[in-house]
Amino acid sequence: MEKTQNYIQSNRQRYLDELFELLRIPSVSADPAYKNDVRRMAEAIADSLRKAGADGVSIHDTPGHPIVYGQKILHPKLPTVLVYGHYDVQPPDPKDLWHSPPFEPTIRKTAVHPDGAVFARGACDDKGQVLMQVKAFEAMVASGELPCNVKFMIEGEEEVGSTNLGQFCREHKDLLACDMVMVSDTSIIANDVPSITVGLRGLCYLEVEVTGPNRDLHSGVYGGAVANPINVLAALIASLHDENMHITIPGFYDEVEVVGLEERKKMNQAPFDEKEYMTDLKVNGLLGEKGYTTLERTSIRPTLDVNGIWGGYTGEGAKTVLPSKASAKISMRLVPHQDSKKITRLFADHFAKIAPPYVKVEVRDLHGGQPVVTPTNTPEYQAAHLAMSKTFGKEPLPQRSGGSIPIVALFEDVLGVKSVLMGFGLDSDNIHSPDEHFGLFNFYKGIETIPYFYSERSSAELIGRF
Ligand code: BES
Ligand code: MN
Ligand code: MN
Repeated sequence: MEKTQNYIQSNRQRYLDELFELLRIPSVSADPAYKNDVRRMAEAIADSLRKAGADGVSIHDTPGHPIVYGQKILHPKLPTVLVYGHYDVQPPDPKDLWHSPPFEPTIRKTAVHPDGAVFARGACDDKGQVLMQVKAFEAMVASGELPCNVKFMIEGEEEVGSTNLGQFCREHKDLLACDMVMVSDTSIIANDVPSITVGLRGLCYLEVEVTGPNRDLHSGVYGGAVANPINVLAALIASLHDENMHITIPGFYDEVEVVGLEERKKMNQAPFDEKEYMTDLKVNGLLGEKGYTTLERTSIRPTLDVNGIWGGYTGEGAKTVLPSKASAKISMRLVPHQDSKKITRLFADHFAKIAPPYVKVEVRDLHGGQPVVTPTNTPEYQAAHLAMSKTFGKEPLPQRSGGSIPIVALFEDVLGVKSVLMGFGLDSDNIHSPDEHFGLFNFYKGIETIPYFYSERSSAELIGRF
């Protein structure tokens, strides 16, 4: 991989310029106002794959946003890696909290990124990480050192639940046939503490609506006599946790995997400083399920959170009103072996049951995904381990992440293959928040590591080491 590494070194500035180009396209999948930009983004990814040396580059339309595909097949007997990522991003709101415009990438230094980081929506999640994969591939192709077959599937709907990707995978099983899936859409523990993600939480995402009177009322004339849907919604939400921060939905914990004490002990040995964590977030205390540490609460335990809540008057100044409706968006993070569909049903049944008779409630299922745990005794995990050891000069730790990538569980079900979650972001990179950024160190470290992954994975196969 020497030629490949030299190629990467001599193209550093161009790689960064290309990242800037991608970050200027506001490919927000959740908001229909950006539909054309999302499409433009798919075309930019397709161009980038073509330029990198991929064949058969195609853009597949879906009822939602397009899926971009490309491949390089060297020989049918060589192992095939399917690279999955997403080019869509979260909405940039609240825009006024950004220190530079979300779609005008700029480089700034931070305490954890002394070499600088690119600030822009999607820098880390996931354009920067997708581009790492494409540029590593380009370097291997250009140097004549690509050691195996590669397929790329980059989608535009991950941030809205990958609603159309499942069907695409089922309909294109032959096209997508592979030995493993590689995903760079997760974090490492720190720039001097490399890690490989070995678990993702599942997800249920719901919207609830509480309806009281048939119209907004004067809160003086009617207040005190008619139930206020916002008051009721607040009480219903509050009742979903008990005083120990256990979730009160009957049956919620029935299938939750009990992680052994030995494994929990190991998990808690990962470098983590609770004081620093609190200082970074400017909070004076933490809150979570009783009996578990912060690392456990954000990886092996399920959660329930309100992501947004609205109703009544929220404009400037005061308006006295007893609203007709109140709504909230609620997510639950799931762990093995909870089932997303079942938990959604349990929530909906429970919410209907606890609703008082003087309001109507409606629960809408927005999307979901199953939790995943990836094995460490596979040739691909070993290859990722060796590759990161080489470029970081330190062995990576296996770590379960609290985030979700809804399609990963499906890769195993539909394509019958395991995934490796080798991401290079940091949890502190503000993904989904104002001032999202991606370290230059991380961007280049990713590009340098990926070729070693390929050579290790492919030689493991050839020697029959596993
Ligand atoms: N890349 C993230 C998931 C992630 C972040 C995994 C950090 C590990 C560490 C992904 O783009 C994401 O944000 N997923 C969503 C789910 C989706 C259905 C909206 C999430 O986890 O909220
Ligand atoms: Mn992502
Ligand atoms: Mn995301």
